[in-house]
Amino acid sequence: MQKIAIFASGSGSNAQCILKHFQSHKKITVALIISNRKEAGVFSHALYYDKPAIHIPRKGIADKNKMLSLLKQHEIDWIILAGFLVKIPEFLVEAFANRILNIHPSLLPKYGGPGMYGKHVHQAVFNTKELRSGLTIHFVNEEYDKGKIVFQASCDISKASNPQEVASTVLALEHLHFAKVIEQTINNQ
Ligand code: GAR
Repeated sequence: MQKIAIFASGSGSNAQCILKHFQSHKKITVALIISNRKEAGVFSHALYYDKPAIHIPRKGIADKNKMLSLLKQHEIDWIILAGFLVKIPEFLVEAFANRILNIHPSLLPKYGGPGMYGKHVHQAVFNTKELRSGLTIHFVNEEYDKGKIVFQASCDISKASNPQEVASTVLALEHLHFAKVIEQTINNQ
C-alpha cells in the first residue's frame, strides 16, 4: 500500500476529493492529514473519512526531527500539497525527492512564485484580462512553483466578470483532475 499525507491550509475541497477518490482504493490510501491552520476545513473532511489529522503550526512544519519522525511513524510514501500555503522546508524536499506533488491554480510558469497563491493568482489573471487560465500539478523542489510539471489543464475564463468567477472555474477543474493525476503519478513510479 502506498501511503499519502495530505497537507492543506484552506477550505480543503481538493483534499475532500482526494479522500473520496482513494476511499476504497486497493493500492493507495490517505494515511495522514496535516494543516498549519487549526480552523482549516480539511479537519472536518478528515473526521468524515475517519483519518488522523494533526494541526502543526508553521514553526512545527520547519522542525526537522518532529516532521520526519511523524511521517515515518505513519509510514508516509507521498506528500500531497492541496492548498498548503507554507513553504516546504528543504529537509522534506530531500527526504521525499520526487514524492511531493503540489497543485497550483494557474498555468505555470505564469502567475507562480512567492506571494502567488489562491485569490492573489486569480486576481492577477483577471487584471491581465487573460482569456484562459487553468491548473498545474508539479513536483516540489527548493524553489516556489518551479518543480517539474506533471500535468496541466486549461479552461476558458473569457466570460468571467470578476476574480471569484475565475477561481471557481479553475477550482472545478482541479477537482476533476487532481486525484486522478496523483493516482497515475504513483502508479508510474
Ligand atoms: C486551490 O485552488 C489550490 O490550487 C491553491 O489553493 C486552493 C486550495 O483550495 N493552491 C495554491 O495557491 C498553492 N500555491 P482548497 O482548500 O479548496 O482545496
